[in-house]
Amino acid sequence: MRILIASSIDPKKVEQLKQQHDVICAFNAKEDVLKSQIKDREVLIFRSGVTISAAVMESAPELKLLVRAGSGTDNIDLDYVEKRGLTLIRVPQPGAKAVAEMAFGMMIGLARNIVHADSLLRRGRWAKSEMTGYLLNGKTLGIVGCGNIGTRVGRMGVVWEMNAIGCVDHLTPARAEDQMAHNHIRFTDFEEVVTKADFLSIHVPKKPSTLNMINKSVFDKMKDGAFLINLARGGVVNEQDLLAALKSGKLRGAALDVHENEGEGKISPLADLPNVILTPHIGAQAVDAQREIGERIQRILDDYSAGTLNPQAHVA
Ligand code: MLT
Repeated sequence: MRILIASSIDPKKVEQLKQQHDVICAFNAKEDVLKSQIKDREVLIFRSGVTISAAVMESAPELKLLVRAGSGTDNIDLDYVEKRGLTLIRVPQPGAKAVAEMAFGMMIGLARNIVHADSLLRRGRWAKSEMTGYLLNGKTLGIVGCGNIGTRVGRMGVVWEMNAIGCVDHLTPARAEDQMAHNHIRFTDFEEVVTKADFLSIHVPKKPSTLNMINKSVFDKMKDGAFLINLARGGVVNEQDLLAALKSGKLRGAALDVHENEGEGKISPLADLPNVILTPHIGAQAVDAQREIGERIQRILDDYSAGTLNPQAHVA
């Protein structure tokens, strides 16, 4: 098969695929490069960091299969995919484990000032008396977007003896029953989640209704001294409003893995604050998770070339 890999996936898998197929790699390329590289391709594999526009896909008359090596679909023109009848398969589960673990790590990092204490100690400051922190135990964990990733975060919070509450756009009765029975996350509305949370963790997809959804009016309603964690998408949290909420002391700290402006050389407006943790969209970057994504891609491609591809079978 003729495959274009437009984002970095497990390097060992890339090598294996190169032995099996005609593979071109153009990681994180701009639109004009993608348009030329995709011309004769049948399969496109991609993650975040590239934009798969209608123009890119239009350049590939033989394109049939798109594999999203992860979860989000905010960087692909879904209307075009549907209109042309292309097959798009996501591989959300392995990355969800990694993102959820990292969100939880961010909470502990924020509550105990781990990154700031580390940076002070590297400069010889033994700041033991200043570096007091907070327990997660007994606190309210609010999850905005209690789907695949958010539910995992909630489950971890419950084990930590947190009071986990969450909201989700489309809560089916079966999901509510299952999650309440097994995870002890209490479902409620957005309003209660943001007003009661000591730790507010954001896990919604980026779409018109979630753009800028965590803004000044939300920060104003939050508890004094709450923490915010965003591993969803840049643009969901208004960074200028967050900056103001942190500077005024309304929020005690924030951790962001995703940013309004992402990429080499971009500096967050929050970068000067010591009570903020910033990472470069690495939530799904756990080696094990990427290895599993690679294996799942292999199975998708094997099924596709055998003519037995059932997209539903690859979702779970
Ligand atoms: C995802 O949506 O799965 C994550 O953002 C990981 C990624 O593609 O980089």
